[in-house]
Amino acid sequence: MQKVIHTVLNVGAEKPFKILHITDVHLTFTNEKDSEDHIALEKRRWDTFRKEGNFPPMSPSEYFEEAIRMAEELDALLVVTGDVMDIQTQGNIEEFHRIADGHDMMFTPGGHEMQKRCHRTLEEPDAYWIGSREKLKAAFPEFDMDFSNRIVNGVNLICADNSLDYYNAETLRRFKEEQAKGLPIILFSHDPMRTGHLNCKESWCEYITLTEEDFKLSHEMIGLIRNDPKVVAYFTGHSHAEIEQKLESGSICYETPGLYAGICRLIEVR
Ligand SMILES: [Fe+2]
Repeated sequence: MQKVIHTVLNVGAEKPFKILHITDVHLTFTNEKDSEDHIALEKRRWDTFRKEGNFPPMSPSEYFEEAIRMAEELDALLVVTGDVMDIQTQGNIEEFHRIADGHDMMFTPGGHEMQKRCHRTLEEPDAYWIGSREKLKAAFPEFDMDFSNRIVNGVNLICADNSLDYYNAETLRRFKEEQAKGLPIILFSHDPMRTGHLNCKESWCEYITLTEEDFKLSHEMIGLIRNDPKVVAYFTGHSHAEIEQKLESGSICYETPGLYAGICRLIEVR
């Protein structure tokens, strides 16, 4: 690993424990089942990530393997916040399985898990994103792509999907159920919150056509995250940068850089 960011959270855990947060691995694998343009695209993207990562001595796959070993050695829970795959190729699905299968981790997706090409050129973006998400669910039935949580030593660890720049109704419903338990919550999602919203505008989503009701529910979820002091920390990726921002509640939104550059975050919860 090139860098391990250390973060300490004093939240009144029954017993201290550790979390290893990784994000944005950007695997760029293809195989004979993938189309020629995807193979060419991922070849170019491989070069991009080598450059962005300052030509790190290890590949994204090797950093992913190292993170799994680190988590097991440190007795830390591994939490992965998406963009493990640079695009949804068969090669990347198989490489993700090769590395992750048999190891314990929590996972929430990023937009790249569902991408096959530049989404701005899509003729039918809604059908594309919905179909792509269904394929992702079918390829990784071990992960709940909307929402998952674990209570560890009296602290509620939650992975909530916002990979398409909004929180869906199912994610909000389950978040409220967990919030009602009254435990401190450490939340993990792919997209950070730099403004009052995610990356999208108040009533416009870059990826998919949303109804007024969709926006209402997503904004409700964002309001809960930003204002509830029980959400003691919010860990994200997406930006490939190390950034911290204070939310209205006083809690911090942490952005963890991409694992492709050999960077991860060790969180000590006390
Ligand atoms: Fe990313």
